[in-house]
Amino acid sequence: FIDAVVFDLDGVITDTAHYHFLAWREMAREMNIEIDEVFNERLKGVSRMASLELILEEGNRQNDFTLHEKETMAEKKNQHYCQFLNHLTPQDILPGIVELISAIKSEGVPIGLASVSKNALTVLRALQLDNTFDYIVDASKVKKTKPDPEIFLTACNRLEADPERSIGIEDAAAGIDSIKASKMFAVGVGNTLYKSDYQVAATKGLKWENIKSEYQTWRNMQ
Ligand code: G6P
Ligand code: MG
Repeated sequence: FIDAVVFDLDGVITDTAHYHFLAWREMAREMNIEIDEVFNERLKGVSRMASLELILEEGNRQNDFTLHEKETMAEKKNQHYCQFLNHLTPQDILPGIVELISAIKSEGVPIGLASVSKNALTVLRALQLDNTFDYIVDASKVKKTKPDPEIFLTACNRLEADPERSIGIEDAAAGIDSIKASKMFAVGVGNTLYKSDYQVAATKGLKWENIKSEYQTWRNMQ
């Protein structure tokens, strides 16, 4: 009765969301812009260039740079970020994720991955999860960043899943909005994802039996 489960990557499968934050903070400081983790919530799930625009806006410098300069800044952030990726191993898969994936797979439910990151495949390879997902949608396959539904709809489509009978798992507000705009059941990992249909504080709380029963209750209400 569940067609597919689609996972976000950064912050759900592994803690790269924190590395994205550290890399942006370092780049922003070079521009004399200070960002904190509260502001960072707005960057989660948002593409690289769109994130840079939000940071420049935060520092009131949105009109100070040419496109070329912005591309150089984004590239610099990516270099900081990639240094963290060099140290990533399967040990960095977040608690509960391996168990969750195997529980879903044991029931024959297909799983997808939806990340607007250009580094998604590098991260999956480092975690040795590159052959785990039935379909991966990354930055190369979509035009629009979350919260647009394009990425989750693409994943469902390629998994031959009806979005209304599918589940998305996200740690970002923009990601939850993307899942809801796709009409899927939204599982949030965090404390402030008010629009999720079901929220757990951390990945270790992601239990397949609980997710299924929350999904069933939600379905019955539709
Ligand atoms: C994910 C992360 C964002 C990141 C985006 C682009 O959505 O949650 O924090 O900005 O991917 O990542 P990239 O690796 O392409 O810079
Ligand atoms: Mg995320």
